[in-house]
Amino acid sequence: MGDYRIAVLGGDGIGPEVTAEALRVLRVVAQRFGHRFAFTEALAGQSAIEAEGAPISEATLALCAESDAVLFGAVGTLDARSASGSARPESAILRLRKELQLFTNLRPVRVFPALAEASALRPERLADVDLIVVRELTGGLYFGKPSEIRESESGALAVDTMIYSEAEIERVVRAACEMARGRRKHVTSVDKANVLSCSRLWRRVSERVAGDYADVELRHLLVDACAMELLRRPAQFDVIVTENMFGDILTDEASMLAGSLGLLPSASLGPRRTAHGQFGLYEPIHGSAPDIAGQGKANPLAAILSAALLLRYSLGLPAEAAAVEQAVERVIEQGKRTADIASSPEQAISTRAMGEAVIQEVQDPRHPIAE
Ligand code: IPM
Ligand code: MG
Repeated sequence: MGDYRIAVLGGDGIGPEVTAEALRVLRVVAQRFGHRFAFTEALAGQSAIEAEGAPISEATLALCAESDAVLFGAVGTLDARSASGSARPESAILRLRKELQLFTNLRPVRVFPALAEASALRPERLADVDLIVVRELTGGLYFGKPSEIRESESGALAVDTMIYSEAEIERVVRAACEMARGRRKHVTSVDKANVLSCSRLWRRVSERVAGDYADVELRHLLVDACAMELLRRPAQFDVIVTENMFGDILTDEASMLAGSLGLLPSASLGPRRTAHGQFGLYEPIHGSAPDIAGQGKANPLAAILSAALLLRYSLGLPAEAAAVEQAVERVIEQGKRTADIASSPEQAISTRAMGEAVIQEVQDPRHPIAE
């Protein structure tokens, strides 16, 4: 019986609601498989600003750094969008990513056949879609300095800085090539090399790194063309690797292949090894959706699938991860739908009911524990 330490930060808006369901699923996994998971909950985002005076406290950062994994919900509120820099609730997740060095962000995109009608694309375009975006998460425009709005004689002006070092590009491209080795051995590196210097360096470094992976095929694609190809022929992609901002935008687009932003999980991995696996932070790719917060409408599946990734990568428990993923699959096949993926309002079930359905499946003795 292993001991595992998991920090839980629900955050704002729908974050705490969906995280609560993921947490309930993890507790049931612990029970069924005989593990001890020690959860410690803490605040992040607007709720932390109100209670602790900062989007994330030093104590919470330390808690996360000392854990085996972090389960994260979402941060952000409607009224905070105009606040600047470190005062914004979003700076909680940005600081966590940066300070914990979580530079590799994995965003798998799977299409559940039973959900084909929820997708924005025709079913025949969705056949064989199984891709993963490896998003660089601690560099680029998100963290480059200067980043500010200035007053000048001719009025206000704003600057953001895109900056990448060779080392930052190399480590994430390497992660993508390693990932491809366990899959269909194809990497698409996405950039804007016809315009940006960062992208030209990205292309050069990714060529060099791919040289170490003779069994992996690398191709380059401009980000605008990639946005188009994701809709035109999504099944062509295996592993997509790209810089921070492009990865943010392309994964929201890719979620429409699956049918909803509420279905896509993510794993953010850093260099630290723990007793059981690789330290990481796990969060749905969606935001805090303040407009539907507190109404029990949010889809908890992205959070639950993020918990499955946590089991796999940080706790080294692949059978447990698969049990959760298969439970989600069965729940979708049974026709359980939250509002975002329901074909009619009458069909929609609540956040809690969806979590409950997954728990039932994880516990179902008809599905034996895989070895
Ligand atoms: C995401 C989100 C975040 C990002 C926001 C909340 C800062 O959109 O994880 O995709 O832009 O990275
Ligand atoms: Mg995003």
